[in-house]
Amino acid sequence: MSDKTAKLSLPNGEELTLDVLTPSLGKDVVAVGALGKAGYFTYDPGYVSTGACESKITYIDGAKGQLLYRGYPIEQLADNSNFEEVAYLLLNGELPSKEQYDEFVAKINNHTMVHEQMMSFFNGFRRDAHPMAIMVSVVGALSAFYHDSLDINNPEHRDISALRLISKVPTIAAMCYRYSVGHPFVYPNNDMSLAENFLNMMFSMPSEDNWKPDPVLVKAMDRIFVLHADHEQNASTSTVRLAGSSGANPFAAIASGIACLWGPAHGGANEACLNMLREIGDVENIPEYVKRAKDKNDPFRLMGFGHRVYKNFDPRAKVMRESAHEVLELLGKHDDPTFKVALELERIALEDPYFVEKKLYPNVDFYSGVILDAIGIPTNMFTVIFALSRTVGWVSQWNEMMGESSRKIGRPRQLYTGEKARDYVDISSRK
Ligand code: CMC
Repeated sequence: MSDKTAKLSLPNGEELTLDVLTPSLGKDVVAVGALGKAGYFTYDPGYVSTGACESKITYIDGAKGQLLYRGYPIEQLADNSNFEEVAYLLLNGELPSKEQYDEFVAKINNHTMVHEQMMSFFNGFRRDAHPMAIMVSVVGALSAFYHDSLDINNPEHRDISALRLISKVPTIAAMCYRYSVGHPFVYPNNDMSLAENFLNMMFSMPSEDNWKPDPVLVKAMDRIFVLHADHEQNASTSTVRLAGSSGANPFAAIASGIACLWGPAHGGANEACLNMLREIGDVENIPEYVKRAKDKNDPFRLMGFGHRVYKNFDPRAKVMRESAHEVLELLGKHDDPTFKVALELERIALEDPYFVEKKLYPNVDFYSGVILDAIGIPTNMFTVIFALSRTVGWVSQWNEMMGESSRKIGRPRQLYTGEKARDYVDISSRK
C-alpha cells in the first residue's frame, strides 16, 4: 500500500481503499485495479481520466503548455538538437556523448536501404493510392523480411528492430511519393542527415548531379521530425502499445500505429487542415467557416485547432509557427493565399469568445501543413511525414513496455447496454 490512499464508497455499502501513486511530474494517479476484484469496472470513454501505463519517456502538462522528452523541454530540443540526437534520447533516456552519437548515426545509416524485393510491392498499388494506405501495408510487411530479429523478448532483437524502423520508414515514405508521381525510387544517401536525406529521396533526380536542398528547408524538416517524435500516450501510441501487448512483432505494432494516426482527429489533421485552408480560399470567406465551426448542428470543425491535452497552448505550435515564417520568407511565399488565410484564421479564432472559452488554440498541425506545402510536399504526404517522425516515439514506447518485468495484455472492459441473455429462435418462428 502506498502512503496516499483514496476511499471509494461502493453502492453495496463497502468502502474500498485505493492506492494513490505519485508521479515524478504531474497529477497523482488513483490505482483502480482493486475495483475489478470488488466487482466493478471503471467507465471512461475516450480515456480522459485513465492512465494505461507507467512511462519515463515523455511528459506533457497541458495547462502549462509543456512538453518534455526525457525531461528536456521541446523548445530547447527544437532549437539546439536534431532528429538523430532526439531519437537517441527517446530510445536510450539520455543525450548521447559525441562517440555515442556517431555510433548511433552509423547504425541508422546501416539500415536505411530496404530489401530490393520490397520495390515490387509498390507495383501492386494504384498510382493514385493514398500514401498512408501504402505505408500501413509496406511497414507491416517489413515483418516478412526480418525473421532474424523478431524475438520480442530479446532486448538485442528489439534494438535492431527499432533501428530498422527508424531508418527504413523515411525510405519507404519517400518511395510512396515517388511511386505516386511515377518517378524512380532514389536510394538513400548516408552522407546526409536524416532530414536532408528524406528531402533528397523525395525530390532529387538521377538525371541531376549534386542535388542539395536549401539548409533552411532541411532545418524546417528536421524540426518537424523533432516536434512530432513523441507525444506520450496519444491514440496511435496507445494503439502500438495495445498491439504490442499481445506479443505482436514490432513492425506489425508500428503498422497499427500508422493506421490509427491516419484519422483526421489525430495525424490526419495536417492534411485536413491544409485542405480546409484551400477550401476557405480567401480571407473574406473566413467568418463563414468560423460560424460553421461554432454551429452545434454542423459537423465542421476548424482543423488544426484544439487538443485533448493542451488547454493553454501547444508548445510545438509555437516553434512550428516560427519555422513557417522562416520557410515562407526564404521561398518568397509570404503572400501565398493559403498562408494569408492561415494567419487571418489564427488571428480571428484567437480572439473569438467561442475558441477562447473552449481553450481551442492552433495545434502543431496548423503550421506544419503550411510549411510542408511551401516546401512542395503534396498534401496527402503530410500524415506520412508525421508517421515517419513518430516512428521513433512508437518504438521507444513499445520497447519500454516490452522491457517491463511483468507485462499484461491490454484488455479493457465495457459498459454493456445490449440485449439480456435470450434463447435462440429458429428462423421459421421469427417475427
Ligand atoms: N473546431 C470547433 N470546435 C471544436 C474544435 C475545433 N477544432 N475542437 C473542439 N471543439 C469544441 C467541441 O465541439 C466541443 O464543444 P462542446 O463542449 O460545446 O461540445 C469542445 O470544443 C471540446 O471538444 P472535444 O471534441 O470534446 O475535445 P477533445 O479533447 O475530445 O478533442 C481534438 C480534441 C483534437 C480531437 C479536437 O479539438 C479536434 O477535433 N480538433 C480538430 C482536429 C485536429 O486538429 N487534430 C489534431 C490534434 S494535434 C495532432 C495530434 O497530436 O494528433
